[in-house]
This record gives sequence, structure tokens and C-alpha cells, in this order.
Amino acid sequence: MTDEERLDRNRSHWDELAELHPDTDYYDVEGFLDGESSLDRLELEGVGDVAGRTLLHLQCHFGLDTLSWLREGAAEVVGADFSATAIETARDLAGRIDLGDRATFVESNLYALDDALDEEFDVVFTSYGVLNWLPDVEAWADVVARFLKPGGRFFIAELHPISHVFMDLRVDEDDTVRSDWPYFSDEPLTFDEDGTYADFEASVEHTVTHEWSHSLGEIVTALVDAGLTVDELREHPFASFEQFPGRMRKRADGHWEIPGEDYPLTFSLRAHRPAE
Ligand SMILES: C[S@@+](CC[C@H](N)C(=O)[O-])C[C@H]1O[C@@H](n2cnc3c(N)ncnc32)[C@H](O)[C@@H]1O
Repeated sequence: MTDEERLDRNRSHWDELAELHPDTDYYDVEGFLDGESSLDRLELEGVGDVAGRTLLHLQCHFGLDTLSWLREGAAEVVGADFSATAIETARDLAGRIDLGDRATFVESNLYALDDALDEEFDVVFTSYGVLNWLPDVEAWADVVARFLKPGGRFFIAELHPISHVFMDLRVDEDDTVRSDWPYFSDEPLTFDEDGTYADFEASVEHTVTHEWSHSLGEIVTALVDAGLTVDELREHPFASFEQFPGRMRKRADGHWEIPGEDYPLTFSLRAHRPAE
């Protein structure tokens, strides 16, 4: 099977989730339409002031975060995702909120975005559950750099790559510690799981997905090799969703922590394209 076929299969999975997710409590579309932001503290602090800025959101899903940046003052936002269903819902939501006419949603595989979009942006943003869907982290970093204006800012908040390893960790009979998610791997990882992070009880038809492991070192080095200057890399002992079901406690700020345990579940990174 080629990576193109793997991405096609992932797209079917995401089309189905994009249909299902707007009705979940996790995404709280009603709250969003009433004026609430879907962005969390890490994202707001990490991206900083967007007033009057143009912003590109990579892997925007059905657009809640993209549109929330308009409410933070962004002048123009573009959300891009390869799921036609997600993009259709994002456009519909944009039509239902004030400022929505300043949003554009582009249906495109991330790696083909250059064919669909000409502009450069003041800010490129992406978050939570994005890199594991991408086979090539170096090519991803090139896409980030391609769409930044000179001096433009990049921010990502993402599941920490080691947290994928912890999620599937087991100790075998010979006391060897193993995980279905290797920290270092260039091979695609195939999973067959029902439910979604937004609704564990949901039943989905397209359960098989293909994902890729990218270590923190590979991610940072890819951004540096693409020409960005990394300004800050932080690791956090909390997650944006109930990543370890039944073991986590939701904090007042909406993040999830594992009481009594202390290891990295999220990382956030700020970078910029040097001014020419
Ligand atoms: C976990 S979601 C991002 C969620 C986002 N943080 C949110 O909560 O709305 C991952 C997104 O990546 C998109 N995606 C996966 N592979 C992609 C690719 N190769 N090109 C573009 N989008 C992709 C999926 O369609 C999905 O919307």
C-alpha cells in the first residue's frame, strides 16, 4: 500500500468524524455559536496578539479554532484540511457568525496546499492531533515555512510524541516494557479502533487508520531545516482531551491531568521565519 492510499483511507475516517464531531459535547458548537472561543490558554498565549493579522490554520478540522481567531481580532483567516465534510461544515459555520466573511476554507491535502493557496501569512497555526497523521515531517515543516511571510510567526500545540508511547504501554511477561507506538519509527503504524477522542462511545464505520511517529527531535530539526528560528519549546504534564480514559481529571482551565503522575503529555513550540 502506498502513502497516498493510506491518506485516502485516513480521509474516509476523517470525513466520518467530521460528520459526527459537530454534535458532540467535546466540540460544543452551540457554545461556539453563542460566542465562546474554542481556543485554550496555551494556544492563545503561544500565538499571541493576532489583531489585524492574517492567519493560516493547518489541519483545521471543521473550523472552530480557525473562526475563533477572528474573534481574537485576526483580519483574515484561512483554514485548510483534506476532509471535504469538515470544510463544508466549516464554511457553514462561518456563514452563521459575525466576521465569518473574513474566513476562507480550503479543501486540500496538506502536502498539496501550495497548489491551492498563493498567499503568505503573518501567522501559521496548527494544534492537537495533527502530526501523527502526516507521513513526512520534513515536508510538513517546508509547508509551514512556505506559507509564512518573512518575520511571520508559527505556533503548534500538540500531543507530546512520548505520550503516544505511554498510551499503548505494557509490561510483557519477561518484564520488557513495550508499546504499539514506537518513539522512533519511519514505518506507518496501522490501527483499527472504534470511537473517537470526542466521543469514546461513538461507533464509526471507517475504523482503520494509518499514522506516523515523529520524535520531538525530528519535529524541531525539521522546522530548523526549513529555515525557521525556534523561539520556545515547552513540555506540559497535561493534555487537551481525556487521553488516558478513566485515569484523568479535568482541571479548571479545561486541560486534563493524571493525578499523581508527572510526565509530558503536550508540547508547544513557537518559531518565526526570519525577516529578509
Ligand atoms: C485531530 S484533527 C485536528 C483537530 C483540531 N485540533 C480540532 O480540534 O479541531 C486532525 C485533522 O487533520 C486532518 N488531516 C489529516 N491528515 C491530513 C492531510 N494529509 N492533509 C490535510 N489534513 C489532514 C483531518 O481531516 C482532521 O481534520
